[in-house]
Amino acid sequence: MRVLVTGSTGLLGKALEETADPSVELVGVHLRPYSVSDPRVRHLVLDLRDARAVDELFARERFDAVIHAAGIAAVDQIERHPEEGRSSNLGGTRSVAEACARSGAYLVYISTNAVFDGRSAPYPEDAPTNPLHHYGRIKLECERLVAACGAPHAVARPILMYGWNHAVNRPNPVTWVYEKLLRGEKVQLVDDVFENPVHNHQCAKALWAMIAKRPSGVFHLAGGERVHRHELGLRVAKVFGLDAGLIEAVPSSAFPSIAPRPKDTTFVTARMERELGVRPLTLTEGLEEMRSEMGIGV
Ligand SMILES: NC(=O)c1ccc[n+]([C@@H]2O[C@H](COP(=O)([O-])OP(=O)(O)OC[C@H]3O[C@@H](n4cnc5c(N)ncnc54)[C@H](OP(=O)(O)O)[C@@H]3O)[C@@H](O)[C@H]2O)c1
Repeated sequence: MRVLVTGSTGLLGKALEETADPSVELVGVHLRPYSVSDPRVRHLVLDLRDARAVDELFARERFDAVIHAAGIAAVDQIERHPEEGRSSNLGGTRSVAEACARSGAYLVYISTNAVFDGRSAPYPEDAPTNPLHHYGRIKLECERLVAACGAPHAVARPILMYGWNHAVNRPNPVTWVYEKLLRGEKVQLVDDVFENPVHNHQCAKALWAMIAKRPSGVFHLAGGERVHRHELGLRVAKVFGLDAGLIEAVPSSAFPSIAPRPKDTTFVTARMERELGVRPLTLTEGLEEMRSEMGIGV
């Protein structure tokens, strides 16, 4: 089976590579002209906003399935520059969805918990959406575009994701806190915004199960524990043997953000567990997996 992963160098793309079955032939697409050497995947540099380049790729190669994870995911960047967000996320998704519809490839679109307003958690897949910011609205438009494109498809919505990322990509809350504590720096973390964060490998395993089973509809991909960022920071300190005394709890009003953030987007994970056979990891289990990936004992 040949699978195309867009956004192959991102936090999720990296995990998809690391968890892929060796029988899968993996082709990855990313944007910036750096090279990644990994024998498990053939990385191509291609801008998905260029519909002609996408068409040429699909004319050259046949894909059984596509996991479309590429795009700008930085919420405040998109709030400042919504047109950039639309062109990256909607433009790229349109090119990929049309190419999948023409070729018959099964498409999994990677959406987000930001399609919800955070007022009625926990959220099952059929809960009403109501995004609070441009990023959430654009991702919801992408979901609708994919639903109407004519390709066999499903939507996966990961929630706050953590794990080891490539150094060229943006840090995530766990790697950010880890680096700060390692340098002995103080950190302030909010204690009034809640999610059930998902380890990138768990998220990738759920996606590989989707590729194997080809379900339709929406799947919520999340971990097994509802926590705020302060608790997440304390857990990072504990698992990696770092100084929890450097961490201070603050309300989110201490960090006026450009885009308003939903307060609680915790997901219900029953469909993931039942239909994909994936158990949600607790935060401590996910962090311990990161620690063992480093090969250190604490
Ligand atoms: N991370 C989270 O907490 C989270 C939570 C919910 C949903 N999601 C969704 O999950 C998906 C993956 O997120 P992530 O955190 O893995 O992303 P990420 O680490 O920010 O990586 C983004 C990836 O997309 C590529 N890309 C961006 N624009 C592109 C374009 N125009 N053409 C081709 N490639 C492009 C980047 O390539 P370069 O490296 O070359 O720039 C990179 O490989 C996104 O759709 C995001 O909305 C993420």
